[in-house]
Amino acid sequence: MKSTLFSSLLVCACFITLLSCQEEKKKRVLQFPKTDLAASPTIPKPLKVIATEGGFALDQFSAIYTSETAPGFGELGEFLAQKIKHKTQLEIQVNGSPKQNQEGVIYINQSDSLELNTPESYQIYVTPDSVILNSNTVEGAFRGVQTLRQIISEVPSDTLAEYPVWTIPTGKIVDGPSFEYRGTMLDVARHFFSVADVKKYIDLMAYYKYNVLHLHLSDDQGWRIEIKSWPKLTEIGGSTEVGGEAGGFYTQEDYKEIVAYAAEHFITIVPEIDMPGHTNAASVSYPILNGNGKTPKLYEGMRVGFSTFDTRKDTVYAFIDDVIGEIAAMSPGPYFHIGGDESHVTKKKDYVYFVEKVEKIVRKHGKRMIGWDEVATAKVDSTSISQFWASKENAQEAVDKGMKIIMSPAKKAYLDMQYDTLSKHGLHWAAYIPTDTAYIWTPEEYEGVPLENILGIEAPLWSETISTIEELEYLAFPRAIGYAELSWTPKENRDWDTYKVRLAKQAPFLDRMDVKYYPSPLIDWQKSKYTYKEILKD
Ligand code: ACM
Repeated sequence: MKSTLFSSLLVCACFITLLSCQEEKKKRVLQFPKTDLAASPTIPKPLKVIATEGGFALDQFSAIYTSETAPGFGELGEFLAQKIKHKTQLEIQVNGSPKQNQEGVIYINQSDSLELNTPESYQIYVTPDSVILNSNTVEGAFRGVQTLRQIISEVPSDTLAEYPVWTIPTGKIVDGPSFEYRGTMLDVARHFFSVADVKKYIDLMAYYKYNVLHLHLSDDQGWRIEIKSWPKLTEIGGSTEVGGEAGGFYTQEDYKEIVAYAAEHFITIVPEIDMPGHTNAASVSYPILNGNGKTPKLYEGMRVGFSTFDTRKDTVYAFIDDVIGEIAAMSPGPYFHIGGDESHVTKKKDYVYFVEKVEKIVRKHGKRMIGWDEVATAKVDSTSISQFWASKENAQEAVDKGMKIIMSPAKKAYLDMQYDTLSKHGLHWAAYIPTDTAYIWTPEEYEGVPLENILGIEAPLWSETISTIEELEYLAFPRAIGYAELSWTPKENRDWDTYKVRLAKQAPFLDRMDVKYYPSPLIDWQKSKYTYKEILKD
Protein backbone atom coordinates (compact mmCIF):
# COMPACT_ATOMS: atom_id res chain seq x y z
CA MET A 1 0.00 0.00 0.00
CA LYS A 2 2.71 2.37 1.11
CA SER A 3 4.90 1.53 -1.82
CA THR A 4 1.99 2.00 -4.23
CA LEU A 5 1.35 5.45 -2.80
CA PHE A 6 5.05 6.28 -3.08
CA SER A 7 5.31 5.16 -6.64
CA SER A 8 2.13 7.08 -7.52
CA LEU A 9 3.62 10.21 -5.99
CA LEU A 10 6.83 9.61 -7.88
CA VAL A 11 4.98 9.22 -11.18
CA CYS A 12 3.03 12.36 -10.37
CA ALA A 13 6.18 14.37 -9.58
CA CYS A 14 7.85 13.18 -12.74
CA PHE A 15 4.80 14.09 -14.77
CA ILE A 16 4.69 17.58 -13.28
CA THR A 17 8.41 18.07 -13.97
CA LEU A 18 7.94 16.83 -17.52
CA LEU A 19 4.98 19.13 -18.04
CA SER A 20 6.88 22.18 -16.84
CA CYS A 21 9.82 21.23 -19.05
CA GLN A 22 7.42 20.99 -21.94
CA GLU A 23 5.89 24.29 -20.95
CA GLU A 24 9.31 25.94 -21.21
CA LYS A 25 10.32 24.18 -24.39
CA LYS A 26 6.93 24.11 -26.08
CA LYS A 27 8.18 25.47 -29.40
CA ARG A 28 11.29 23.31 -29.60
CA VAL A 29 9.36 20.06 -29.65
CA LEU A 30 7.18 21.05 -32.62
CA GLN A 31 7.35 18.47 -35.37
CA PHE A 32 6.79 20.03 -38.76
CA PRO A 33 6.04 18.00 -41.81
CA LYS A 34 8.62 18.78 -44.52
CA THR A 35 7.72 22.03 -46.26
CA ASP A 36 8.31 23.46 -49.74
CA LEU A 37 8.33 27.24 -49.95
CA ALA A 38 8.56 27.01 -53.76
CA ALA A 39 5.21 25.20 -53.83
CA SER A 40 3.40 27.97 -51.92
CA PRO A 41 0.41 29.40 -53.80
CA THR A 42 2.02 32.79 -54.43
CA ILE A 43 0.50 34.93 -57.18
CA PRO A 44 2.22 36.75 -58.78
CA LYS A 45 5.00 34.17 -58.81
CA PRO A 46 8.12 35.66 -57.17
CA LEU A 47 11.36 36.09 -59.13
CA LYS A 48 13.38 33.61 -57.09
CA VAL A 49 12.48 31.15 -54.34
CA ILE A 50 14.93 28.90 -52.48
CA ALA A 51 13.22 26.36 -50.19
CA THR A 52 14.91 24.89 -47.10
CA GLU A 53 12.14 22.50 -46.04
CA GLY A 54 11.67 23.60 -42.43
CA GLY A 55 8.89 25.55 -40.77
CA PHE A 56 8.39 28.81 -38.89
CA ALA A 57 5.61 28.41 -36.35
CA LEU A 58 3.11 31.24 -36.49
CA ASP A 59 1.15 31.02 -33.26
CA GLN A 60 0.09 32.89 -30.16
CA PHE A 61 3.75 33.28 -29.14
CA SER A 62 4.78 35.09 -32.35
CA ALA A 63 5.37 38.84 -32.54
CA ILE A 64 5.87 41.43 -35.28
CA TYR A 65 8.57 44.10 -35.12
CA THR A 66 9.30 46.78 -37.71
CA SER A 67 11.86 49.48 -38.39
CA GLU A 68 10.53 52.21 -36.16
CA THR A 69 12.18 55.26 -37.63
CA ALA A 70 11.26 54.56 -41.26
CA PRO A 71 7.86 56.18 -41.98
CA GLY A 72 5.00 53.78 -42.61
CA PHE A 73 6.72 50.61 -41.37
CA GLY A 74 4.92 50.58 -38.01
CA GLU A 75 1.55 50.94 -39.78
CA LEU A 76 2.54 48.15 -42.13
CA GLY A 77 3.22 45.90 -39.12
CA GLU A 78 -0.30 46.67 -37.88
CA PHE A 79 -1.70 45.92 -41.35
CA LEU A 80 0.00 42.52 -41.37
CA ALA A 81 -1.25 41.73 -37.84
CA GLN A 82 -4.80 42.58 -38.91
CA LYS A 83 -4.57 40.34 -41.98
CA ILE A 84 -3.09 37.49 -39.92
CA LYS A 85 -5.99 37.89 -37.50
CA HIS A 86 -8.46 37.66 -40.38
CA LYS A 87 -6.82 34.46 -41.64
CA THR A 88 -6.07 32.72 -38.32
CA GLN A 89 -7.74 34.67 -35.52
CA LEU A 90 -4.30 35.00 -33.85
CA GLU A 91 -3.69 38.29 -32.05
CA ILE A 92 -0.10 39.11 -32.90
CA GLN A 93 1.56 41.93 -31.01
CA VAL A 94 3.28 44.68 -33.04
CA ASN A 95 6.35 46.54 -31.77
CA GLY A 96 5.44 45.67 -28.16
CA SER A 97 7.80 44.79 -25.33
CA PRO A 98 8.77 41.11 -25.52
CA LYS A 99 6.25 38.85 -23.78
CA GLN A 100 7.09 35.85 -21.63
CA ASN A 101 7.17 32.79 -23.87
CA GLN A 102 7.60 34.90 -26.99
CA GLU A 103 9.39 32.93 -29.66
CA GLY A 104 9.10 33.44 -33.42
CA VAL A 105 9.59 36.98 -34.64
CA ILE A 106 8.52 38.61 -37.90
CA TYR A 107 10.67 41.64 -38.64
CA ILE A 108 9.76 44.16 -41.36
CA ASN A 109 12.96 46.00 -42.04
CA GLN A 110 13.88 49.10 -44.01
CA SER A 111 17.12 48.07 -45.70
CA ASP A 112 19.58 49.95 -47.90
CA SER A 113 20.66 46.84 -49.78
CA LEU A 114 21.55 47.58 -53.38
CA GLU A 115 20.27 44.16 -54.38
CA LEU A 116 16.78 45.63 -53.97
CA ASN A 117 16.86 47.32 -57.33
CA THR A 118 13.35 48.71 -57.82
CA PRO A 119 11.27 50.69 -55.31
CA GLU A 120 8.92 47.69 -55.03
CA SER A 121 11.62 45.02 -54.62
CA TYR A 122 11.81 43.03 -51.41
CA GLN A 123 13.38 39.92 -49.93
CA ILE A 124 12.01 37.51 -47.36
CA TYR A 125 14.15 35.15 -45.28
CA VAL A 126 12.27 32.53 -43.28
CA THR A 127 14.08 30.38 -40.70
CA PRO A 128 12.51 28.31 -37.90
CA ASP A 129 13.06 31.29 -35.53
CA SER A 130 12.36 34.36 -37.62
CA VAL A 131 10.86 35.87 -40.73
CA ILE A 132 12.80 38.86 -42.02
CA LEU A 133 11.30 41.04 -44.72
CA ASN A 134 13.71 43.59 -46.23
CA SER A 135 12.90 46.44 -48.59
CA ASN A 136 14.31 49.89 -49.34
CA THR A 137 10.84 51.38 -49.27
CA VAL A 138 7.59 50.93 -47.41
CA GLU A 139 5.96 50.29 -50.79
CA GLY A 140 8.29 47.35 -51.44
CA ALA A 141 7.70 46.09 -47.91
CA PHE A 142 3.94 46.29 -48.58
CA ARG A 143 4.34 44.07 -51.66
CA GLY A 144 6.40 41.67 -49.55
CA VAL A 145 3.70 41.60 -46.87
CA GLN A 146 1.26 40.32 -49.51
CA THR A 147 3.66 37.45 -50.25
CA LEU A 148 3.91 36.73 -46.53
CA ARG A 149 0.10 36.57 -46.29
CA GLN A 150 0.11 34.07 -49.14
CA ILE A 151 2.78 31.73 -47.70
CA ILE A 152 1.09 31.26 -44.31
CA SER A 153 -0.59 27.85 -44.37
CA GLU A 154 -4.36 27.93 -44.93
CA VAL A 155 -5.14 25.73 -41.94
CA PRO A 156 -3.29 24.99 -38.70
CA SER A 157 -0.55 22.43 -39.21
CA ASP A 158 -0.18 19.04 -37.57
CA THR A 159 2.71 19.83 -35.19
CA LEU A 160 1.70 17.89 -32.05
CA ALA A 161 1.39 21.24 -30.21
CA GLU A 162 -1.61 21.75 -27.91
CA TYR A 163 -2.37 25.09 -29.51
CA PRO A 164 -2.94 25.93 -33.17
CA VAL A 165 0.17 26.58 -35.22
CA TRP A 166 0.19 27.88 -38.79
CA THR A 167 3.31 27.11 -40.79
CA ILE A 168 5.42 29.44 -42.88
CA PRO A 169 7.78 27.29 -44.97
CA THR A 170 11.45 28.23 -44.52
CA GLY A 171 13.68 29.55 -47.29
CA LYS A 172 14.39 32.75 -49.17
CA ILE A 173 12.35 34.83 -51.62
CA VAL A 174 13.88 37.52 -53.82
CA ASP A 175 11.30 39.53 -55.72
CA GLY A 176 10.46 42.66 -57.70
CA PRO A 177 8.09 43.62 -60.52
CA SER A 178 8.58 43.48 -64.29
CA PHE A 179 6.40 46.55 -64.90
CA GLU A 180 6.02 49.72 -62.88
CA TYR A 181 2.35 50.17 -63.95
CA ARG A 182 0.08 47.26 -63.00
CA GLY A 183 -3.53 48.28 -63.19
CA THR A 184 -7.16 47.47 -63.47
CA MET A 185 -9.89 49.88 -64.57
CA LEU A 186 -13.38 50.10 -63.20
CA ASP A 187 -16.15 51.77 -65.21
CA VAL A 188 -18.31 53.45 -62.58
CA ALA A 189 -20.13 55.45 -65.29
CA ARG A 190 -22.26 52.80 -67.06
CA HIS A 191 -23.22 51.53 -63.64
CA PHE A 192 -22.26 53.25 -60.44
CA PHE A 193 -20.36 51.37 -57.71
CA SER A 194 -20.33 52.54 -54.10
CA VAL A 195 -17.27 53.61 -52.12
CA ALA A 196 -17.56 50.34 -50.15
CA ASP A 197 -17.53 48.30 -53.39
CA VAL A 198 -14.46 50.15 -54.65
CA LYS A 199 -12.69 49.59 -51.32
CA LYS A 200 -13.35 45.86 -51.49
CA TYR A 201 -11.95 45.81 -55.03
CA ILE A 202 -8.87 47.66 -53.75
CA ASP A 203 -8.40 45.06 -50.97
CA LEU A 204 -8.42 42.29 -53.55
CA MET A 205 -6.15 44.13 -55.98
CA ALA A 206 -3.60 44.87 -53.26
CA TYR A 207 -3.33 41.16 -52.36
CA TYR A 208 -2.18 40.46 -55.93
CA LYS A 209 0.27 43.43 -55.99
CA TYR A 210 -1.61 45.72 -58.37
CA ASN A 211 -0.55 49.34 -57.98
CA VAL A 212 -3.01 51.33 -60.15
CA LEU A 213 -6.79 51.64 -60.13
CA HIS A 214 -8.10 53.63 -63.09
CA LEU A 215 -11.60 54.98 -62.47
CA HIS A 216 -13.67 55.71 -65.60
CA LEU A 217 -15.64 58.57 -64.02
CA SER A 218 -17.76 59.85 -66.91
CA ASP A 219 -19.51 58.54 -69.97
CA ASP A 220 -22.69 59.03 -72.00
CA GLN A 221 -24.82 57.37 -69.31
CA GLY A 222 -23.48 59.12 -66.23
CA TRP A 223 -21.16 61.67 -64.62
CA ARG A 224 -19.84 60.30 -61.32
CA ILE A 225 -17.62 62.91 -59.65
CA GLU A 226 -18.73 66.10 -57.94
CA ILE A 227 -17.28 69.22 -59.58
CA LYS A 228 -18.01 72.17 -57.33
CA SER A 229 -17.76 74.79 -60.08
CA TRP A 230 -20.18 72.86 -62.36
CA PRO A 231 -22.75 71.34 -59.96
CA LYS A 232 -25.28 70.18 -62.55
CA LEU A 233 -22.83 67.53 -63.79
CA THR A 234 -23.78 65.33 -60.87
CA GLU A 235 -27.26 66.77 -60.21
CA ILE A 236 -28.38 65.97 -63.75
CA GLY A 237 -25.61 63.91 -65.32
CA GLY A 238 -25.23 61.67 -62.28
CA SER A 239 -28.90 60.74 -62.11
CA THR A 240 -28.97 57.86 -64.61
CA GLU A 241 -27.15 54.70 -65.60
CA VAL A 242 -27.51 51.87 -68.12
CA GLY A 243 -30.92 50.26 -67.76
CA GLY A 244 -32.59 53.25 -66.11
CA GLU A 245 -31.59 52.84 -62.46
CA ALA A 246 -30.84 55.87 -60.33
CA GLY A 247 -27.10 56.18 -60.99
CA GLY A 248 -25.12 58.04 -58.34
CA PHE A 249 -21.86 59.91 -57.91
CA TYR A 250 -18.92 60.40 -55.59
CA THR A 251 -18.85 63.61 -53.59
CA GLN A 252 -15.40 65.10 -53.41
CA GLU A 253 -15.16 63.71 -49.87
CA ASP A 254 -16.04 60.23 -51.20
CA TYR A 255 -13.41 60.51 -53.90
CA LYS A 256 -10.78 61.63 -51.40
CA GLU A 257 -11.73 58.67 -49.21
CA ILE A 258 -11.14 56.30 -52.15
CA VAL A 259 -7.82 57.98 -52.99
CA ALA A 260 -6.68 57.72 -49.36
CA TYR A 261 -7.76 54.09 -49.03
CA ALA A 262 -5.97 53.25 -52.27
CA ALA A 263 -2.84 55.06 -51.03
CA GLU A 264 -2.87 53.00 -47.83
CA HIS A 265 -2.69 49.98 -50.14
CA PHE A 266 0.02 51.58 -52.31
CA ILE A 267 -2.39 51.89 -55.20
CA THR A 268 -2.55 55.05 -57.32
CA ILE A 269 -5.92 56.25 -58.53
CA VAL A 270 -5.95 57.34 -62.18
CA PRO A 271 -9.05 59.50 -62.75
CA GLU A 272 -10.55 59.49 -66.25
CA ILE A 273 -12.90 62.05 -67.75
CA ASP A 274 -13.67 60.63 -71.19
CA MET A 275 -13.84 63.27 -73.96
CA PRO A 276 -14.54 64.66 -76.55
CA GLY A 277 -16.82 61.65 -77.23
CA HIS A 278 -18.63 59.70 -74.48
CA THR A 279 -19.83 63.05 -73.17
CA ASN A 280 -23.62 62.89 -73.37
CA ALA A 281 -24.13 63.11 -69.58
CA ALA A 282 -21.98 66.28 -69.42
CA SER A 283 -23.78 67.84 -72.38
CA VAL A 284 -27.23 67.13 -70.91
CA SER A 285 -26.09 68.88 -67.73
CA TYR A 286 -24.65 71.88 -69.64
CA PRO A 287 -25.96 71.93 -73.25
CA ILE A 288 -23.46 74.66 -74.13
CA LEU A 289 -20.78 71.93 -74.23
CA ASN A 290 -22.55 69.89 -76.87
CA GLY A 291 -21.14 69.62 -80.38
CA ASN A 292 -23.26 67.04 -82.18
CA GLY A 293 -25.98 69.48 -83.28
CA LYS A 294 -28.78 67.68 -81.42
CA THR A 295 -30.56 68.46 -78.16
CA PRO A 296 -28.94 66.12 -75.65
CA LYS A 297 -31.19 63.86 -73.56
CA LEU A 298 -30.33 61.56 -70.69
CA TYR A 299 -29.21 58.21 -72.10
CA GLU A 300 -29.61 54.75 -70.54
CA GLY A 301 -28.69 52.50 -73.46
CA MET A 302 -25.42 50.88 -74.51
CA ARG A 303 -24.56 52.52 -77.82
CA VAL A 304 -21.26 54.38 -78.20
CA GLY A 305 -19.88 57.04 -80.50
CA PHE A 306 -22.82 59.46 -80.81
CA SER A 307 -21.75 62.32 -78.53
CA THR A 308 -19.08 65.00 -78.78
CA PHE A 309 -18.06 68.24 -77.13
CA ASP A 310 -17.96 71.34 -79.32
CA THR A 311 -14.20 71.44 -79.79
CA ARG A 312 -14.13 75.03 -81.11
CA LYS A 313 -15.75 76.79 -78.18
CA ASP A 314 -13.69 78.57 -75.50
CA THR A 315 -16.31 77.72 -72.85
CA VAL A 316 -15.57 74.03 -73.43
CA TYR A 317 -11.90 74.54 -72.57
CA ALA A 318 -12.75 76.74 -69.56
CA PHE A 319 -15.01 73.90 -68.39
CA ILE A 320 -12.29 71.29 -68.93
CA ASP A 321 -9.77 73.45 -67.10
CA ASP A 322 -12.10 73.60 -64.07
CA VAL A 323 -12.88 69.89 -64.15
CA ILE A 324 -9.27 68.76 -64.52
CA GLY A 325 -8.16 71.35 -61.95
CA GLU A 326 -10.60 70.15 -59.28
CA ILE A 327 -9.89 66.46 -59.86
CA ALA A 328 -6.11 66.89 -60.17
CA ALA A 329 -6.06 68.75 -56.85
CA MET A 330 -7.57 65.66 -55.16
CA SER A 331 -5.42 63.10 -57.01
CA PRO A 332 -1.87 62.76 -55.70
CA GLY A 333 -0.86 60.33 -58.49
CA PRO A 334 1.08 61.54 -61.55
CA TYR A 335 -1.58 60.76 -64.19
CA PHE A 336 -4.80 62.19 -65.62
CA HIS A 337 -6.71 60.15 -68.21
CA ILE A 338 -8.60 62.15 -70.86
CA GLY A 339 -10.29 59.20 -72.59
CA GLY A 340 -10.27 60.15 -76.25
CA ASP A 341 -11.75 56.89 -77.59
CA GLU A 342 -14.54 56.34 -80.10
CA SER A 343 -15.14 60.00 -80.94
CA HIS A 344 -16.97 58.93 -84.07
CA VAL A 345 -18.95 62.15 -84.54
CA THR A 346 -16.02 64.50 -83.96
CA LYS A 347 -14.35 65.57 -87.22
CA LYS A 348 -10.77 64.29 -87.39
CA LYS A 349 -9.24 67.79 -87.45
CA ASP A 350 -11.39 68.85 -84.51
CA TYR A 351 -10.39 65.73 -82.58
CA VAL A 352 -6.69 66.45 -83.10
CA TYR A 353 -7.13 70.11 -82.14
CA PHE A 354 -9.03 69.05 -79.01
CA VAL A 355 -6.52 66.46 -77.78
CA GLU A 356 -3.61 68.86 -78.23
CA LYS A 357 -5.38 71.60 -76.26
CA VAL A 358 -6.50 69.27 -73.48
CA GLU A 359 -3.01 67.78 -73.16
CA LYS A 360 -1.75 71.29 -72.34
CA ILE A 361 -4.43 71.71 -69.68
CA VAL A 362 -3.47 68.39 -68.10
CA ARG A 363 0.18 69.45 -68.00
CA LYS A 364 -0.73 72.86 -66.58
CA HIS A 365 -2.28 71.00 -63.64
CA GLY A 366 0.93 69.05 -63.10
CA LYS A 367 -0.20 65.71 -64.48
CA ARG A 368 0.94 63.37 -67.21
CA MET A 369 -1.76 62.70 -69.80
CA ILE A 370 -3.01 59.20 -70.54
CA GLY A 371 -5.47 58.60 -73.39
CA TRP A 372 -6.94 55.59 -75.21
CA ASP A 373 -4.84 54.65 -78.24
CA GLU A 374 -6.57 57.16 -80.60
CA VAL A 375 -4.85 60.09 -78.85
CA ALA A 376 -1.55 59.18 -80.54
CA THR A 377 -3.07 60.38 -83.85
CA ALA A 378 -2.73 63.94 -82.50
CA LYS A 379 0.60 65.74 -82.10
CA VAL A 380 1.06 64.85 -78.45
CA ASP A 381 4.14 65.04 -76.30
CA SER A 382 6.41 62.02 -75.81
CA THR A 383 5.71 62.18 -72.06
CA SER A 384 2.02 61.46 -72.65
CA ILE A 385 0.87 57.85 -72.52
CA SER A 386 -1.21 55.83 -74.95
CA GLN A 387 -3.44 53.00 -73.73
CA PHE A 388 -3.49 50.30 -76.42
CA TRP A 389 -7.00 48.84 -76.49
CA ALA A 390 -7.85 48.33 -80.18
CA SER A 391 -5.53 49.66 -82.85
CA LYS A 392 -2.09 48.36 -83.66
CA GLU A 393 -1.63 51.32 -86.03
CA ASN A 394 -2.34 53.80 -83.25
CA ALA A 395 0.07 51.92 -80.98
CA GLN A 396 2.72 52.24 -83.70
CA GLU A 397 2.06 56.01 -83.92
CA ALA A 398 2.63 56.23 -80.18
CA VAL A 399 5.90 54.29 -80.51
CA ASP A 400 6.98 56.63 -83.33
CA LYS A 401 6.36 59.58 -81.01
CA GLY A 402 8.46 57.96 -78.26
CA MET A 403 5.43 57.58 -75.98
CA LYS A 404 4.97 54.95 -73.31
CA ILE A 405 2.13 52.49 -73.81
CA ILE A 406 -0.19 50.74 -71.38
CA MET A 407 -1.15 47.33 -72.76
CA SER A 408 -4.92 46.69 -72.56
CA PRO A 409 -5.81 44.94 -75.82
CA ALA A 410 -9.54 44.22 -75.68
CA LYS A 411 -9.08 40.78 -77.24
CA LYS A 412 -6.89 39.68 -74.35
CA ALA A 413 -7.23 42.01 -71.39
CA TYR A 414 -10.85 43.23 -71.18
CA LEU A 415 -12.39 41.89 -68.01
CA ASP A 416 -15.91 42.53 -69.32
CA MET A 417 -15.55 40.04 -72.17
CA GLN A 418 -17.55 36.86 -71.53
CA TYR A 419 -15.65 33.72 -70.57
CA ASP A 420 -17.67 31.70 -73.07
CA THR A 421 -21.15 31.52 -74.60
CA LEU A 422 -22.63 30.45 -71.25
CA SER A 423 -21.31 33.45 -69.28
CA LYS A 424 -23.97 35.12 -67.17
CA HIS A 425 -22.57 38.63 -67.67
CA GLY A 426 -20.34 40.48 -70.08
CA LEU A 427 -20.11 41.18 -73.79
CA HIS A 428 -18.19 39.48 -76.58
CA TRP A 429 -17.61 42.10 -79.28
CA ALA A 430 -13.83 41.69 -78.97
CA ALA A 431 -13.60 38.00 -78.01
CA TYR A 432 -14.61 35.34 -75.55
CA ILE A 433 -11.82 35.28 -72.98
CA PRO A 434 -11.70 32.09 -70.92
CA THR A 435 -9.41 31.99 -67.88
CA ASP A 436 -6.54 30.36 -69.79
CA THR A 437 -6.71 32.77 -72.76
CA ALA A 438 -6.54 35.70 -70.32
CA TYR A 439 -3.23 34.32 -69.02
CA ILE A 440 -1.61 32.71 -72.07
CA TRP A 441 -0.36 35.69 -74.06
CA THR A 442 2.77 37.76 -73.91
CA PRO A 443 2.17 41.49 -73.40
CA GLU A 444 5.95 41.98 -73.66
CA GLU A 445 5.77 40.95 -77.33
CA TYR A 446 2.24 41.86 -78.34
CA GLU A 447 1.58 43.27 -81.85
CA GLY A 448 5.15 44.50 -82.26
CA VAL A 449 5.12 47.07 -79.45
CA PRO A 450 8.76 47.28 -78.30
CA LEU A 451 9.31 46.29 -74.68
CA GLU A 452 11.04 49.59 -73.89
CA ASN A 453 7.83 51.47 -74.75
CA ILE A 454 5.64 49.41 -72.42
CA LEU A 455 4.87 51.15 -69.15
CA GLY A 456 2.74 48.27 -67.96
CA ILE A 457 -0.51 46.40 -68.24
CA GLU A 458 -4.07 47.29 -67.32
CA ALA A 459 -7.19 45.12 -67.35
CA PRO A 460 -10.31 47.29 -67.88
CA LEU A 461 -13.70 46.28 -66.52
CA TRP A 462 -16.53 48.03 -68.39
CA SER A 463 -19.85 47.88 -66.61
CA GLU A 464 -22.65 47.92 -69.20
CA THR A 465 -23.78 44.43 -68.09
CA ILE A 466 -22.95 44.50 -64.37
CA SER A 467 -24.47 46.55 -61.57
CA THR A 468 -23.57 44.78 -58.31
CA ILE A 469 -20.30 43.86 -56.60
CA GLU A 470 -21.14 40.15 -57.07
CA GLU A 471 -21.44 40.66 -60.83
CA LEU A 472 -18.24 42.69 -60.84
CA GLU A 473 -16.47 39.85 -59.00
CA TYR A 474 -17.82 37.26 -61.45
CA LEU A 475 -16.15 39.03 -64.38
CA ALA A 476 -12.98 40.16 -62.60
CA PHE A 477 -12.14 36.92 -60.79
CA PRO A 478 -10.28 34.79 -61.53
CA ARG A 479 -8.99 36.62 -64.61
CA ALA A 480 -7.68 39.70 -62.77
CA ILE A 481 -5.42 37.37 -60.78
CA GLY A 482 -3.78 36.26 -64.02
CA TYR A 483 -3.24 39.82 -65.27
CA ALA A 484 -1.54 40.60 -61.96
CA GLU A 485 0.97 37.85 -62.71
CA LEU A 486 1.47 39.01 -66.32
CA SER A 487 2.41 42.46 -65.11
CA TRP A 488 4.67 41.38 -62.22
CA THR A 489 6.37 38.13 -63.23
CA PRO A 490 8.78 37.97 -66.20
CA LYS A 491 7.64 35.83 -69.11
CA GLU A 492 10.40 33.25 -68.54
CA ASN A 493 8.84 32.46 -65.14
CA ARG A 494 5.26 32.09 -66.33
CA ASP A 495 3.49 29.00 -67.51
CA TRP A 496 -0.16 28.03 -67.45
CA ASP A 497 0.35 24.57 -65.94
CA THR A 498 1.99 25.78 -62.75
CA TYR A 499 -0.13 28.94 -62.63
CA LYS A 500 -3.39 27.00 -62.69
CA VAL A 501 -2.30 24.94 -59.66
CA ARG A 502 -1.53 28.13 -57.72
CA LEU A 503 -4.79 29.68 -58.93
CA ALA A 504 -6.76 26.66 -57.71
CA LYS A 505 -5.35 27.33 -54.22
CA GLN A 506 -6.75 30.88 -54.16
CA ALA A 507 -10.21 29.47 -53.40
CA PRO A 508 -9.91 29.65 -49.58
CA PHE A 509 -8.74 33.30 -49.77
CA LEU A 510 -11.51 34.24 -52.21
CA ASP A 511 -14.07 32.47 -50.01
CA ARG A 512 -12.73 34.19 -46.90
CA MET A 513 -13.11 37.53 -48.70
CA ASP A 514 -16.61 36.52 -49.82
CA VAL A 515 -15.73 36.94 -53.50
CA LYS A 516 -18.28 35.49 -55.90
CA TYR A 517 -15.72 34.47 -58.50
CA TYR A 518 -16.51 32.58 -61.68
CA PRO A 519 -15.67 28.94 -60.89
CA SER A 520 -13.92 28.30 -64.20
CA PRO A 521 -14.16 24.60 -65.12
CA LEU A 522 -10.54 24.81 -66.32
CA ILE A 523 -9.41 25.02 -62.70
CA ASP A 524 -9.48 22.24 -60.10
CA TRP A 525 -10.50 24.63 -57.32
CA GLN A 526 -8.97 23.57 -53.99
CA LYS A 527 -11.91 24.42 -51.80
CA SER A 528 -11.10 23.92 -48.15
CA LYS A 529 -12.70 20.85 -46.57
CA TYR A 530 -13.93 23.21 -43.90
CA THR A 531 -15.67 26.52 -44.22
CA TYR A 532 -13.76 29.55 -43.01
CA LYS A 533 -15.93 29.70 -39.88
CA GLU A 534 -15.21 26.05 -39.05
CA ILE A 535 -11.46 26.59 -39.36
CA LEU A 536 -11.63 29.47 -36.92
CA LYS A 537 -13.67 27.46 -34.42
CA ASP A 538 -11.11 24.60 -34.33
C1 ACM B 1 -12.86 51.46 -75.23
O1 ACM B 1 -13.06 50.26 -75.00
N1 ACM B 1 -13.75 52.18 -75.88
C2 ACM B 1 -11.63 52.12 -74.80
